[in-house]
Amino acid sequence: MESQFDLSFFQSKLKTHWIGQNVQYFKELQSTNTYAKKASPDEVQQGTVCITDHQTKGRGQYERNWESEKAKNLTFSLVFRPQESGRFHVLTLGCALAIVEYLNHFLDEHCAYIKWPNDVMLNDKKVAGLLAETVFSGNKLDRLIIGIGLNVNQQNFSPELSDKATSIFLEKGGPVKRELFLSDLLSRIEYKYNLWHRQQPSLIKSINRNIEGYGQWIKLVVDDILLDDTYKLLGVDETGKLLLLNHEGGIESFSYEQIRLLVD
Ligand code: BTN
Repeated sequence: MESQFDLSFFQSKLKTHWIGQNVQYFKELQSTNTYAKKASPDEVQQGTVCITDHQTKGRGQYERNWESEKAKNLTFSLVFRPQESGRFHVLTLGCALAIVEYLNHFLDEHCAYIKWPNDVMLNDKKVAGLLAETVFSGNKLDRLIIGIGLNVNQQNFSPELSDKATSIFLEKGGPVKRELFLSDLLSRIEYKYNLWHRQQPSLIKSINRNIEGYGQWIKLVVDDILLDDTYKLLGVDETGKLLLLNHEGGIESFSYEQIRLLVD
């Protein structure tokens, strides 16, 4: 049984100061990220949340599609309009961290972590993915959009995904009220945003502690080529670049699109 996202219930539970105070709900939309990118600047202020129950052309990282069963999950985009135009990846990772911490709290278990670059894993299966996109007006950043697809109540995945994807329902063994989950999650994201805005080093430390492979020697795929050597994962720096130690003792840094990590 599918039931539509209850917007007024969600709004009655929302305790944030600004994220989600402007919310745009659509029964069906091609993609919340595409909508948020194309909307006029006055439709999407700082903290606007665009959410839909059914994405017909949901987009994922690396030009992939994002499939999500109708009215079961959370598919939404957050719009940020910061003054500065750098460090985006840290904010995206901050949102991923908020999801990880909330899942660990919600399930009362240390079972979630970030998989580089933008996945959230639950008991070693993907439960959420994030897609960050920017809109510039000339040289000036107009908005940053962080799209989040979070599998909440979906119980069946396509054969290609069934051993790689999961949902909160499957791990908890029961249904989850999406409106409550989202309202609490947005409070946590708002808190992380404030840390990001104030450039608090504690944010980077918490991100790193929750990234798969942190402190381990791992294999790398750079621009689709598997490197022979192993590297020690030192985590992200304050600009969002990934730092890796090579066997000669040198530190190499990579932008997030460039690199995939293979962790045993
Ligand atoms: C990934 O893991 O590949 C990222 C998936 C991002 C999916 C979300 S769902 C809401 C928003 N709208 C989209 O079209 N994509 C993002």
